[in-house]
Amino acid sequence: MEPIEALKRNAALAAVKHVKDGFIVGLGSGSTIAYAIAALGEQVKNENLHILGIPSSYQAFALAVQNKIPITTLEEHPVIDVDIDGADQIDPKLDLIKGMGAALAREKIVAAASKLNIIIADEKKRVKVLGENNQPVPMEVLSFAIAPVMRSIEKLGGRAALRETKGKLGPVISDNGNAIMDATFGTIGDAAKLERELKMIPGVVETGLFIGLTDIVYLGTASTVEQLTQKRK
Ligand code: 5RP
Repeated sequence: MEPIEALKRNAALAAVKHVKDGFIVGLGSGSTIAYAIAALGEQVKNENLHILGIPSSYQAFALAVQNKIPITTLEEHPVIDVDIDGADQIDPKLDLIKGMGAALAREKIVAAASKLNIIIADEKKRVKVLGENNQPVPMEVLSFAIAPVMRSIEKLGGRAALRETKGKLGPVISDNGNAIMDATFGTIGDAAKLERELKMIPGVVETGLFIGLTDIVYLGTASTVEQLTQKRK
């Protein structure tokens, strides 16, 4: 296993310790969460753990099926006990940029419905300020609104680009049938304000700024797994 993969796996193993028998579990998306889903699958099989998963994407759904984790819906269980997910950037307040896997809208809905939100990542995801290193804010946008949303992002000082697919010509389309756009602002001074401004633009379905949602981060480092906590707003 590549060293970076071991860091992700260690973070995932720390997070799954929060999952108890009978829990409804939000299943995030990405390469780090795959380790958490595999570990939960092992516990379901070998330790008779009874849980129901709510997947945040087709990828999470497929991983849950593959690992024999029974799944349910928000209709049946609108309150989730614990959500485990990955992130693209994590700041000192545990605010996040998410969505490089294009699952941000469902991921945010699942996170908002959860009593406890746990983020798992390798240490490279930790930043001082969101938007460092030209990290874009992924956004889900109605296809009908692509051009005006791009103009509105420019008026807010950003640069927007439609995310292009590999394997098909044209834009990445989310699991919800919408376009995915990446909006680059440079370092983001006030992420909560930017989130409010972006959400006010007609046609923006969701943004990858996750503000005040995270309770615990497990960060895999070369020597250990660091736990960072934040009292939710
Ligand atoms: C998908 C996400 C992912 O959680 C995020 O991109 C992190 O992925 P990875 O664990 O592969 O680095 O937000 O929309």
